[in-house]
Amino acid sequence: MKTLVILAHPNLEESVANKRIAKELKKRNNDVEIRDIFSLYPDYKIDVEAEQQALLEADTVIFQYPFWWYNMPAILKVWFDEVFIFNFAFGPEGDKLKGKNFLLSFTIGGPADSYTPLGYNHFSVAEFTRPMEQTAYLAQMNYLAPIFEHGMVFIPGVYNTKEAVEERADKQVERIVKIIDELKNENPEAKIKAFVKDWFAHFDVLADDGYFNNHIANGAKLRFVEGEFIGHEGFSEWYAEIKKNIKPNNEHRIESITIAANNGHFDVDLTVKMKAETVDGNPIQLNVNENWKVEITRDNRVKIHEYRVAKV
Ligand SMILES: Cc1cc2nc3c(=O)[nH]c(=O)nc-3n(C[C@H](O)[C@H](O)[C@H](O)COP(=O)(O)O)c2cc1C
Repeated sequence: MKTLVILAHPNLEESVANKRIAKELKKRNNDVEIRDIFSLYPDYKIDVEAEQQALLEADTVIFQYPFWWYNMPAILKVWFDEVFIFNFAFGPEGDKLKGKNFLLSFTIGGPADSYTPLGYNHFSVAEFTRPMEQTAYLAQMNYLAPIFEHGMVFIPGVYNTKEAVEERADKQVERIVKIIDELKNENPEAKIKAFVKDWFAHFDVLADDGYFNNHIANGAKLRFVEGEFIGHEGFSEWYAEIKKNIKPNNEHRIESITIAANNGHFDVDLTVKMKAETVDGNPIQLNVNENWKVEITRDNRVKIHEYRVAKV
């Protein structure tokens, strides 16, 4: 399991957060390759072949950068524009990144409550990262929930102390290392468990249906409380209705999970407590039993073949 970190900070000398994260990551994991793309290409002239080669050798790609103007620093945007090209990342022969994990890890200056409808940044962080999420889907990569910490800006005497920012940076490192460890784990049970957690985390925020369909097999049988649906189209049809009726930021709590191998597939049995609010402001609480039939594909992804939900 090889992890590649694309580190993008045009002023690492003066960085507190990203410098700390890069340093700690290097210390903690010696099988992680860190490519500091601004030091490699201070003139923004990317060696496309070298970058593509590094990607081909990696199983997981982590993009580490400061959140600048609700986005990534320009060097990383140039990197994507030049490296994620036709017949490499997309197009008829553009499956070179298929199945690799794609993890955004960035540091955000503003506080969490500013990234809410009434806060001064108005939109959620997930809305700002949407283009990257779709980039991963188009490249057939496995988009993982991004890792970020707020309050990462250090301006002496104005915002934060250096120690407070470094402490949050260390917390971010812990979270990255935990994901790397989870992904490394060849144990299918651990992989499925991590996947189930990720699946519901995406449901909680009503993420794009691309995430879900990426993990649903063609022609999968989906039996939801609302009826039976088939495959990607069925999922999207059902999900569009759900999104019309339920507000984002709901909660799916996994109360129990059992996983059993069954003829090359895995049966996953779950009990889940769901708390949500309808768009009209009515609370919903639901306890459900779920039975999934999943496969771990040869490129090491979890795919759902059957999904059954029943109210209890
Ligand atoms: C050019 C620039 C743009 C920034 N834009 C944002 C922003 O859109 N939202 C935000 O919360 N913080 C923003 N910040 C604050 C950075 O996110 C913060 O300084 C950075 O995460 C700290 O990481 P570092 O110590 O590695 O530089 C910006 C900072 C700079 C210098």
